[in-house]
Amino acid sequence: MNLVPNPRLFSFIGGRDGAWKVTGSRVIAGEGLPPVERIDVAPGDIAAPPWSDGWVLRGATSNERYVTRPEKDLLVAAQQGPARPPHALAVLIPIKKNDRWWGLTQDERRGIFEERSGHTRNGLELSPTITRRLHHCRDLSRPEPFDFVTWFELGLEDVTAFDLLLDRLRGSLEWTYVEREVEIRLQRS
Ligand code: HEM
Repeated sequence: MNLVPNPRLFSFIGGRDGAWKVTGSRVIAGEGLPPVERIDVAPGDIAAPPWSDGWVLRGATSNERYVTRPEKDLLVAAQQGPARPPHALAVLIPIKKNDRWWGLTQDERRGIFEERSGHTRNGLELSPTITRRLHHCRDLSRPEPFDFVTWFELGLEDVTAFDLLLDRLRGSLEWTYVEREVEIRLQRS
């Protein structure tokens, strides 16, 4: 049987090669990831890294779950400024939430995510124009170590606000449901 490849699936390959050089890495919660020199982002399912000490995280982009129409309009408008040159920096943040989170209903999760934690509100206030990509990992064909792979591309001028956003998100009620999180800072080279 020929399976059609999922065009929304991406692999994040940690190892010795790739377009992005690791400049820093830290564990925020739970178990870390083995240190790597570089990360490559490739479409599709890369089964295993070519290096014995490397790793691959996979995730697929998807429809939105929590945004309301007014929030979506604000998010789209924020991305429509003048074109910027390709960003020099990226941050890869894989995240796993706990069973308590996944046991909640959709409306309970939305209440925590936005009404009580202001995830979108804070993101729009502090880092509206950076490139943001959310990949979901729970419904892929094989088990993945994280629930989400988040990927951000930004310029040097965006770093201070982005760091403030990270502090705010990590201090929010939503983050009390995060059981594993690793932050990897990258530079295009
Ligand atoms: C840069 C500004 C940011 C904006 C505007 C933003 C906005 C959003 C929005 C609108 C969603 C909901 C998508 C949906 O409806 O399904 C979302 C989900 C998510 N974001 Fe952010 N975000 C930002 C930064 C961040 C950062 C820095 C992190 C990681 C530290 C992060 C981690 C996540 C995760 C894990 C989800 C999925 C939550 C879930 O489905 O349980 N976001 N973000």
